[in-house]
Amino acid sequence: MYQNILLQQEQGIAHITINREAKLNALNILTLQEIKQAVEAANKDQSIRGIILTGAGSKAFAAGADISEFVNFSTTEAHKMSSDGHAVMNSIEQSSIPVIAAVNGFALGGGCELAMACHMRIASENAKFGQPEVNLGLPPGYAGTQRLIQLIGKGKATQMLLTAETIGANVAHEYGLVNEVVPLEDLIPRCIDIINTIASKSPMAIADVITCINAYFETGKNGFDTEINAFANAFGSKDFKEGTEAFLTKRKANFER
Ligand code: COA
Repeated sequence: MYQNILLQQEQGIAHITINREAKLNALNILTLQEIKQAVEAANKDQSIRGIILTGAGSKAFAAGADISEFVNFSTTEAHKMSSDGHAVMNSIEQSSIPVIAAVNGFALGGGCELAMACHMRIASENAKFGQPEVNLGLPPGYAGTQRLIQLIGKGKATQMLLTAETIGANVAHEYGLVNEVVPLEDLIPRCIDIINTIASKSPMAIADVITCINAYFETGKNGFDTEINAFANAFGSKDFKEGTEAFLTKRKANFER
Protein backbone atom coordinates (compact mmCIF):
# COMPACT_ATOMS: atom_id res chain seq x y z
CA MET A 1 0.00 0.00 0.00
CA TYR A 2 2.85 2.42 0.83
CA GLN A 3 5.94 2.87 -1.35
CA ASN A 4 8.25 4.99 0.77
CA ILE A 5 7.31 4.19 4.35
CA LEU A 6 7.01 0.97 6.29
CA LEU A 7 4.04 0.63 8.61
CA GLN A 8 3.97 -1.95 11.36
CA GLN A 9 1.37 -2.24 14.06
CA GLU A 10 2.54 -3.90 17.23
CA GLN A 11 0.81 -4.01 20.59
CA GLY A 12 -1.26 -0.90 20.03
CA ILE A 13 1.55 1.16 18.51
CA ALA A 14 1.87 2.20 14.86
CA HIS A 15 5.53 2.22 13.83
CA ILE A 16 6.09 4.42 10.79
CA THR A 17 9.55 4.09 9.25
CA ILE A 18 10.69 6.40 6.45
CA ASN A 19 12.16 3.85 4.09
CA ARG A 20 14.54 5.57 1.68
CA GLU A 21 17.77 4.61 3.40
CA ALA A 22 19.97 5.00 0.29
CA LYS A 23 18.83 8.64 0.08
CA LEU A 24 19.20 9.18 3.83
CA ASN A 25 15.39 9.07 4.03
CA ALA A 26 15.05 12.34 2.12
CA LEU A 27 11.46 13.46 2.17
CA ASN A 28 10.03 13.57 -1.30
CA ILE A 29 6.42 14.64 -1.68
CA LEU A 30 5.05 11.09 -1.84
CA THR A 31 6.85 10.16 1.40
CA LEU A 32 5.31 13.10 3.25
CA GLN A 33 1.84 12.29 1.91
CA GLU A 34 2.26 8.66 2.98
CA ILE A 35 3.27 9.75 6.50
CA LYS A 36 0.16 11.94 6.66
CA GLN A 37 -2.06 9.07 5.47
CA ALA A 38 -0.53 6.65 7.99
CA VAL A 39 -0.95 9.13 10.87
CA GLU A 40 -4.59 9.78 9.92
CA ALA A 41 -5.29 6.05 9.56
CA ALA A 42 -3.76 5.34 12.99
CA ASN A 43 -5.97 8.05 14.50
CA LYS A 44 -9.06 6.29 13.13
CA ASP A 45 -7.97 2.85 14.37
CA GLN A 46 -9.34 2.31 17.89
CA SER A 47 -6.67 -0.30 18.63
CA ILE A 48 -3.78 2.17 18.20
CA ARG A 49 -2.69 4.27 21.20
CA GLY A 50 0.41 5.99 19.82
CA ILE A 51 2.74 6.43 16.86
CA ILE A 52 6.52 6.16 16.64
CA LEU A 53 8.07 7.82 13.60
CA THR A 54 11.65 6.95 12.66
CA GLY A 55 14.00 6.54 9.70
CA ALA A 56 15.30 3.32 8.19
CA GLY A 57 18.90 2.42 9.03
CA SER A 58 21.16 3.98 11.61
CA LYS A 59 22.41 7.03 9.75
CA ALA A 60 19.41 9.25 9.21
CA PHE A 61 15.98 10.08 10.53
CA ALA A 62 15.56 12.23 7.39
CA ALA A 63 18.23 14.39 5.72
CA GLY A 64 15.70 16.94 4.50
CA ALA A 65 13.30 17.49 1.67
CA ASP A 66 14.37 15.71 -1.50
CA ILE A 67 16.53 18.30 -3.25
CA SER A 68 16.58 16.40 -6.55
CA GLU A 69 12.78 16.48 -6.66
CA PHE A 70 12.28 20.21 -6.09
CA VAL A 71 15.35 21.58 -7.90
CA ASN A 72 13.37 22.60 -11.01
CA PHE A 73 10.14 23.65 -9.31
CA SER A 74 8.46 26.90 -10.34
CA THR A 75 7.32 29.42 -7.71
CA THR A 76 3.80 28.02 -8.01
CA GLU A 77 5.00 24.44 -7.50
CA ALA A 78 7.17 25.53 -4.56
CA HIS A 79 4.20 27.28 -2.97
CA LYS A 80 2.15 24.09 -3.21
CA MET A 81 5.07 22.01 -1.92
CA SER A 82 5.43 24.24 1.13
CA SER A 83 1.72 24.58 1.92
CA ASP A 84 1.13 20.83 1.46
CA GLY A 85 4.16 20.19 3.69
CA HIS A 86 2.76 22.50 6.36
CA ALA A 87 -0.49 20.50 6.20
CA VAL A 88 1.46 17.26 6.79
CA MET A 89 3.22 18.77 9.80
CA ASN A 90 -0.09 20.10 11.16
CA SER A 91 -1.75 16.69 10.80
CA ILE A 92 1.00 15.18 12.97
CA GLU A 93 0.85 17.98 15.55
CA GLN A 94 -2.95 17.70 15.70
CA SER A 95 -2.98 13.91 16.03
CA SER A 96 -5.21 12.91 18.95
CA ILE A 97 -2.84 10.09 19.81
CA PRO A 98 0.78 10.87 20.72
CA VAL A 99 3.38 10.90 17.95
CA ILE A 100 6.99 10.45 19.06
CA ALA A 101 9.92 11.09 16.73
CA ALA A 102 12.62 8.48 17.31
CA VAL A 103 15.50 10.47 15.83
CA ASN A 104 18.18 7.98 14.82
CA GLY A 105 20.71 10.09 12.91
CA PHE A 106 20.54 13.15 10.67
CA ALA A 107 17.41 15.28 11.13
CA LEU A 108 18.16 18.10 8.75
CA GLY A 109 15.92 20.64 7.05
CA GLY A 110 12.57 18.93 6.45
CA GLY A 111 13.76 16.08 8.68
CA CYS A 112 14.23 18.46 11.61
CA GLU A 113 10.88 20.09 10.78
CA LEU A 114 9.18 16.68 10.71
CA ALA A 115 10.68 15.77 14.10
CA MET A 116 9.55 19.13 15.50
CA ALA A 117 5.97 18.53 14.38
CA CYS A 118 5.86 15.40 16.54
CA HIS A 119 4.67 15.73 20.14
CA MET A 120 8.01 14.58 21.55
CA ARG A 121 11.49 13.83 20.28
CA ILE A 122 13.71 11.08 21.64
CA ALA A 123 17.18 11.08 20.10
CA SER A 124 19.88 8.46 19.78
CA GLU A 125 23.40 9.56 20.73
CA ASN A 126 24.37 9.86 17.03
CA ALA A 127 21.45 12.17 16.14
CA LYS A 128 22.25 15.49 14.49
CA PHE A 129 19.89 18.40 13.97
CA GLY A 130 20.06 21.41 11.68
CA GLN A 131 18.26 23.70 9.26
CA PRO A 132 20.76 23.97 6.39
CA GLU A 133 18.34 25.48 3.85
CA VAL A 134 20.23 28.80 3.63
CA ASN A 135 23.08 26.82 2.04
CA LEU A 136 20.67 26.10 -0.83
CA GLY A 137 19.46 29.67 -1.23
CA LEU A 138 16.24 28.96 0.63
CA PRO A 139 14.55 29.60 3.94
CA PRO A 140 12.97 26.51 5.54
CA GLY A 141 9.60 25.59 3.99
CA TYR A 142 7.96 23.15 6.41
CA ALA A 143 7.55 25.54 9.35
CA GLY A 144 11.10 25.28 10.65
CA THR A 145 11.32 29.01 11.34
CA GLN A 146 8.22 28.78 13.53
CA ARG A 147 8.53 25.52 15.45
CA LEU A 148 12.24 25.96 16.17
CA ILE A 149 11.48 29.25 17.95
CA GLN A 150 8.63 27.57 19.83
CA LEU A 151 10.91 24.80 21.02
CA ILE A 152 14.25 26.47 21.75
CA GLY A 153 13.55 30.23 21.81
CA LYS A 154 14.30 33.04 19.37
CA GLY A 155 18.01 33.55 20.08
CA LYS A 156 19.18 29.96 19.64
CA ALA A 157 16.71 29.34 16.79
CA THR A 158 18.00 32.39 14.92
CA GLN A 159 21.57 31.17 15.31
CA MET A 160 20.74 27.70 13.98
CA LEU A 161 18.64 29.05 11.10
CA LEU A 162 21.17 31.68 10.00
CA THR A 163 24.39 29.69 10.42
CA ALA A 164 23.00 26.37 9.11
CA GLU A 165 25.20 24.72 11.71
CA THR A 166 24.35 21.20 12.78
CA ILE A 167 24.08 20.38 16.48
CA GLY A 168 24.56 16.99 18.11
CA ALA A 169 22.11 15.14 20.33
CA ASN A 170 23.49 16.43 23.62
CA VAL A 171 23.37 20.08 22.55
CA ALA A 172 19.85 19.48 21.17
CA HIS A 173 18.93 18.12 24.59
CA GLU A 174 20.47 21.09 26.37
CA TYR A 175 18.49 23.41 24.03
CA GLY A 176 15.22 21.56 24.73
CA LEU A 177 14.91 20.40 21.13
CA VAL A 178 14.85 16.77 22.27
CA ASN A 179 13.31 15.31 25.39
CA GLU A 180 15.89 12.59 26.00
CA VAL A 181 19.07 11.15 24.51
CA VAL A 182 19.56 7.38 24.63
CA PRO A 183 21.92 4.82 23.06
CA LEU A 184 20.75 3.83 19.57
CA GLU A 185 19.73 0.33 20.68
CA ASP A 186 17.46 1.81 23.37
CA LEU A 187 15.78 4.32 21.07
CA ILE A 188 12.67 2.40 19.99
CA PRO A 189 12.25 0.58 23.35
CA ARG A 190 12.31 3.94 25.17
CA CYS A 191 9.70 5.38 22.78
CA ILE A 192 7.55 2.28 23.33
CA ASP A 193 7.84 2.76 27.13
CA ILE A 194 6.62 6.34 26.87
CA ILE A 195 3.69 5.41 24.63
CA ASN A 196 2.74 2.55 26.94
CA THR A 197 2.67 4.92 29.89
CA ILE A 198 0.42 7.31 27.97
CA ALA A 199 -1.73 4.38 26.77
CA SER A 200 -2.70 3.60 30.36
CA LYS A 201 -4.32 7.06 30.71
CA SER A 202 -7.64 8.35 29.45
CA PRO A 203 -7.48 8.64 25.64
CA MET A 204 -10.10 11.41 25.77
CA ALA A 205 -8.03 13.41 28.27
CA ILE A 206 -4.84 12.80 26.26
CA ALA A 207 -6.55 14.17 23.13
CA ASP A 208 -7.78 17.17 25.13
CA VAL A 209 -4.32 17.94 26.48
CA ILE A 210 -2.86 17.83 22.95
CA THR A 211 -5.60 20.22 21.76
CA CYS A 212 -4.92 22.62 24.65
CA ILE A 213 -1.14 22.57 24.07
CA ASN A 214 -1.66 23.29 20.37
CA ALA A 215 -4.04 26.15 21.23
CA TYR A 216 -1.19 27.93 23.06
CA PHE A 217 0.57 28.39 19.73
CA GLU A 218 -2.41 28.98 17.46
CA THR A 219 -3.09 32.54 16.38
CA GLY A 220 -6.62 33.57 17.21
CA LYS A 221 -7.07 30.84 19.80
CA ASN A 222 -7.10 31.41 23.53
CA GLY A 223 -5.48 28.40 25.15
CA PHE A 224 -6.90 29.31 28.56
CA ASP A 225 -10.46 29.28 27.20
CA THR A 226 -9.70 26.08 25.26
CA GLU A 227 -8.67 24.45 28.54
CA ILE A 228 -11.76 25.64 30.44
CA ASN A 229 -14.01 24.20 27.72
CA ALA A 230 -12.06 20.93 27.48
CA PHE A 231 -12.21 20.53 31.28
CA ALA A 232 -15.95 21.19 31.37
CA ASN A 233 -16.69 18.90 28.44
CA ALA A 234 -14.81 16.04 30.09
CA PHE A 235 -17.43 15.93 32.84
CA GLY A 236 -19.99 13.30 31.99
CA SER A 237 -17.63 11.50 29.59
CA LYS A 238 -17.12 7.76 29.92
CA ASP A 239 -13.44 8.31 30.73
CA PHE A 240 -14.25 10.76 33.53
CA LYS A 241 -16.75 8.25 34.96
CA GLU A 242 -14.21 5.41 34.75
CA GLY A 243 -11.26 7.44 36.10
CA THR A 244 -13.05 8.91 39.09
CA GLU A 245 -14.94 5.69 39.91
CA ALA A 246 -11.66 3.71 39.78
CA PHE A 247 -9.99 6.18 42.14
CA LEU A 248 -12.87 6.20 44.62
CA THR A 249 -13.18 2.39 44.66
CA LYS A 250 -9.39 1.98 44.89
CA ARG A 251 -8.95 0.04 41.65
CA LYS A 252 -6.92 0.63 38.50
CA ALA A 253 -8.77 2.55 35.80
CA ASN A 254 -9.37 0.69 32.56
CA PHE A 255 -9.72 3.17 29.73
CA GLU A 256 -10.72 2.18 26.23
CA ARG A 257 -10.21 4.19 23.09
N1 COA B 1 17.76 15.31 -0.90
C1 COA B 1 18.07 14.42 -1.86
N2 COA B 1 19.03 13.48 -1.73
C2 COA B 1 19.70 13.47 -0.56
C3 COA B 1 19.44 14.37 0.49
C4 COA B 1 18.42 15.32 0.27
N3 COA B 1 18.07 16.21 1.22
N4 COA B 1 20.28 14.12 1.51
C5 COA B 1 21.05 13.09 1.11
N5 COA B 1 20.71 12.69 -0.14
C6 COA B 1 21.29 11.60 -0.93
C7 COA B 1 22.64 12.00 -1.53
O1 COA B 1 22.44 12.75 -2.71
C8 COA B 1 23.25 10.65 -1.76
O2 COA B 1 22.65 10.09 -2.92
P1 COA B 1 23.57 9.32 -4.02
O3 COA B 1 24.22 8.20 -3.27
O4 COA B 1 22.59 8.87 -5.04
O5 COA B 1 24.56 10.34 -4.49
C9 COA B 1 22.75 9.83 -0.56
O6 COA B 1 21.58 10.51 -0.09
C10 COA B 1 23.75 9.75 0.55
O7 COA B 1 24.13 11.08 0.94
P2 COA B 1 25.65 11.59 0.97
O8 COA B 1 25.63 13.07 0.81
O9 COA B 1 26.50 10.81 0.03
O10 COA B 1 26.02 11.20 2.47
P3 COA B 1 27.13 11.89 3.39
O11 COA B 1 27.27 10.99 4.58
O12 COA B 1 28.36 12.22 2.60
O13 COA B 1 26.48 13.29 3.86
C11 COA B 1 24.70 14.71 4.67
C12 COA B 1 25.33 13.31 4.69
C13 COA B 1 23.40 14.64 5.44
C14 COA B 1 25.66 15.71 5.36
C15 COA B 1 24.47 15.16 3.22
O14 COA B 1 23.77 14.13 2.54
C16 COA B 1 23.66 16.42 3.07
O15 COA B 1 24.17 17.50 3.29
N6 COA B 1 22.35 16.31 2.69
C17 COA B 1 21.50 17.42 2.40
C18 COA B 1 21.04 18.08 3.69
C19 COA B 1 20.18 19.28 3.38
O16 COA B 1 20.61 20.27 2.84
N7 COA B 1 18.89 19.17 3.76
C20 COA B 1 17.94 20.22 3.57
C21 COA B 1 17.21 20.00 2.32
S1 COA B 1 15.99 21.28 2.07
